Amino acid sequence: MKSKILALLRERGDYVSGQELCERFGVSRTAVWKAIGQLKKEGYCMEAVQNKGYLLVEDKELYGQHELESRMNTKWAGHPLFFYDELPSTNLQAKLDAEKGAREGTLIVADMQTAGRGRKGRSWSSPAGTNIYFTLILKPEYSVERASMVTLLMGLAVAEGIRETCGAESFIKWPNDIVIHGKKVCGMLAEMSVEREFIHYIVMGVGVNVGQQEFVPEIASMATSLWQECGRKVSRAGLIVNVMKSFEHYYDVFQREGSISPLLQRYNELLVNRDREVRVLDPKGEFRGISRGINENGELLVEREDGTLTAVYAGEVSVRGIYGYV
Ligand code: BTN
Repeated sequence: MKSKILALLRERGDYVSGQELCERFGVSRTAVWKAIGQLKKEGYCMEAVQNKGYLLVEDKELYGQHELESRMNTKWAGHPLFFYDELPSTNLQAKLDAEKGAREGTLIVADMQTAGRGRKGRSWSSPAGTNIYFTLILKPEYSVERASMVTLLMGLAVAEGIRETCGAESFIKWPNDIVIHGKKVCGMLAEMSVEREFIHYIVMGVGVNVGQQEFVPEIASMATSLWQECGRKVSRAGLIVNVMKSFEHYYDVFQREGSISPLLQRYNELLVNRDREVRVLDPKGEFRGISRGINENGELLVEREDGTLTAVYAGEVSVRGIYGYV
């Protein structure tokens, strides 16, 4: 009920009487009064005026279960949502929940991670009070070959979510990273449980550097945050909601059409290396070419010197710019 009260007060932007809250949520005056008291304890500023009711004054950024729940304006992505102050890893928690039957759309968010996981067995630095770490659970009915599309759709959603939330011009570094001015601001890690051709679940983990002001010297030249790029605080809750909204839209299109074809143009517009020379780090041998965007299978098309196009599959290779990461 607390999230619903918050959502109503935010939407109204004016005083809402205790009576209206009671009627709306079918609870007693005491229950409303208690909920308001608990929200105040969580840090919300509630002005209470006799004969007028309650007014929500949003004077600082709050981040937690009720903030996220009260803002989530999606149909299924982000419902239900579980917020933790601390977790080893949201991907790990999501897998445990998925095993226990959590439904598609369930979102696990943590303020910090003690064992954040990156790709290729690396760790993901996850300090408290500053960045975003979340994992979305999906229970697809499509075959395993299409599972890699989920990362592409999430990349699209994060790049657009960042643009919408703070205006920073973020781009996709196919297939797993989001970059701004050539530096990584977000990493994604999809993991799945498969039996023969049947996907039990996919957990789609996303880490975005939002408020981080400094990075360790080893990654400082390659990493950035929204704070560094925009020069101001960016709402973590606002960004998660925008990403979920966008992901839900793209995932619904993908499911309905059975392919990412309708989204290719937008994806390729946001591709950071499009029409630029790249190095393809293929275990069978490195080669160079011009990146020409992805095809409907999610493969990156790289034009070789002789004009032929090679479709590069994400699982096997990494792609770099000629002079470095992008
Ligand atoms: C990478 O670029 O190496 C991928 C990083 C993925 C990090 C996110 S943070 C939320 C989720 N939980 C994890 O343990 N990892 C992913």
